[in-house]
Amino acid sequence: MTETIIVDRKDRVGLITLNRPKALNALTLQVMHEVVAAAQEFDRDPGIGAILITGSAKAFAAGADIKEMQPQSYLDVYLSDWFAGWDALARVRKPTIAAVAGYALGGGCELAMLCDILLAADTAKFGQPEIKLGVIPGIGGSQRLTRAVGKAKAMELCLTGRMMDAEEAERAGLVSRVVPADRLLDDALETAATIASMSLPTAMMAKEAVNRAFESSLAEGILFERRLFHATFATADQKEGMAAFVEKRAPHFTHR
Ligand code: CAA
Repeated sequence: MTETIIVDRKDRVGLITLNRPKALNALTLQVMHEVVAAAQEFDRDPGIGAILITGSAKAFAAGADIKEMQPQSYLDVYLSDWFAGWDALARVRKPTIAAVAGYALGGGCELAMLCDILLAADTAKFGQPEIKLGVIPGIGGSQRLTRAVGKAKAMELCLTGRMMDAEEAERAGLVSRVVPADRLLDDALETAATIASMSLPTAMMAKEAVNRAFESSLAEGILFERRLFHATFATADQKEGMAAFVEKRAPHFTHR
C-alpha cells in the first residue's frame, strides 16, 4: 500500500506516478522509500521490461520537501545519511525513464537524472535552486547535471538557482526529447513499451554498457562493452533476433 505514489503496470511497463499534488510532489523520505521499493519490485518482476516515473502536469517534483528538512540538524542528516536511500534507484538494473512535465527542481531534477532516459514536455522546467535555501544539491545534482550538460551550465544553474526550460535542457543534452505536454505520457509509455519489447537481458546489458562510460576510462569502457557484446551471444534472444532478420520476419523475444 503506497500513500505518496500511484503504482500501475501497462503490459510490460511498470509505471510510478508521484502523487502529492498539494505539495507539487515534493520528495519526502516516505516518497523516497515508496519510489525505491516500487522500482525494486518492478526490477524483480520478470514480467516487467522498463520502468517509467512521472509526476503531474504542473510538477514532476518541486524538490526535496523543504518543510521536512527545515527542522533537521547537521547530526540528524549526517547520522541518518539523509537522501542516501535514493542511490538504490541508480542500482535498478532494468531501464528507467523519467517523463517530466512542469517543475523538476532540486531533488526533482535529481530524481529525473537518476533515470536512464529523460523525456520532457514542452512545459518542463529544470533547475537546482538549493543555493537559494542555503544548501547545495544532495541527491547527485552537482555530479549528474555536470556530466549531462557540462561544467559551465551546471555551475551557473547550481550557483544562481536559475531554471532552464525544456528547449534549453534538450539543447544542453539533459533530455533526450521534448514533446507537447498533452502527448508526454503516451509518448513516454510508447518509448517504455518499445524498450520492454526488446530482449530484457540485452537491454540490461546495453544499460550497463552505457552507464560504464561514466565510471571508467575509454579503453576500459570499450573492453567492458566488448565482453557484454560477446555475452549477448549466450542468449536465446540473440539467436532469435538474428534468425528473424535473416528470415525477414519480426523477432519474438523470450527475454532469455
Ligand atoms: N518542499 C515542500 N513544499 C513545497 C515544495 C518543496 N520543495 N515546493 C512547493 N511546495 C509546496 C508549497 O509550500 C505550497 O504549499 P502550501 O500551499 O501549503 O503553501 C505548494 O507546494 C504549492 O507551491 P507554491 O504555492 O509555491 O506554488 P507556485 O506555483 O507559486 O511556485 C515553485 C512553484 C516555483 C516550484 C515553488 O513552489 C518553489 O520555489 N518551490 C521550491 C523549489 C525548491 O527550492 N526546490 C529545491 C528544494 S531543496 C532540494 O531539493 C535539496 C536536494 O538537493 C535534494
